[in-house]
Amino acid sequence: TSILVLNGPNLNLLGTRQPDVYGSVTLAMVEQACAEHGQKLGVSVSCFQSNHEGALIDAIHAAKGQHQGIILNAGAYTHTSIALMDAMISVEIPAVEVHLSNIHAREPFRHTSYISKAALGQICGFGAQGYLLALDALKAHLEKAVS
Ligand code: DQA
Repeated sequence: TSILVLNGPNLNLLGTRQPDVYGSVTLAMVEQACAEHGQKLGVSVSCFQSNHEGALIDAIHAAKGQHQGIILNAGAYTHTSIALMDAMISVEIPAVEVHLSNIHAREPFRHTSYISKAALGQICGFGAQGYLLALDALKAHLEKAVS
C-alpha cells in the first residue's frame, strides 16, 4: 500500500511561518514523521509539496494507479480551488484532508473547504500530528475496503 502526502502553498515555510498558528516543526520533519509512521503501519509514504495549483493537480492525476490513498493539506487552495476538488473527485482515490490549525476557529473565509467534498474526512487543529492521524485513518479505511 502506498500513500501520497500532498502539501500545498506556503507549507514549505513550516517552522518559520506564523509558528504560533502552525507550530515550529518544518515540512521536512513532518515528512520524516510520516515516513516513520508509515513504516510502523506497513504502508509506504511518498511526499510532495508545491506552491502551484497546476503542479498539485498534476500530482493528483499522476497518483492514479500509483497510490491507494492521499493525505492532502491544500493550504489556502482549500478555500478557493474548484480545480483541485475536481481533480480529487476525478481520480477516486480515498483521501483525508489535513490542516495544522483548527480552520473552523479562525477567519470565516477558512471555514469552507472544497477539498472536504472529495475527502473521506477532515482532521484539523492537531498540528503536525494530524498527518499521522490521517495515516491511521487511511490505513483503517483501506483495510475495511478490502475485507
Ligand atoms: C492550513 C489552513 C489554511 O487556511 C491556510 O491557508 C494554510 C494552512 C493549515 O494547515 O492549517 O496555508 O491549511
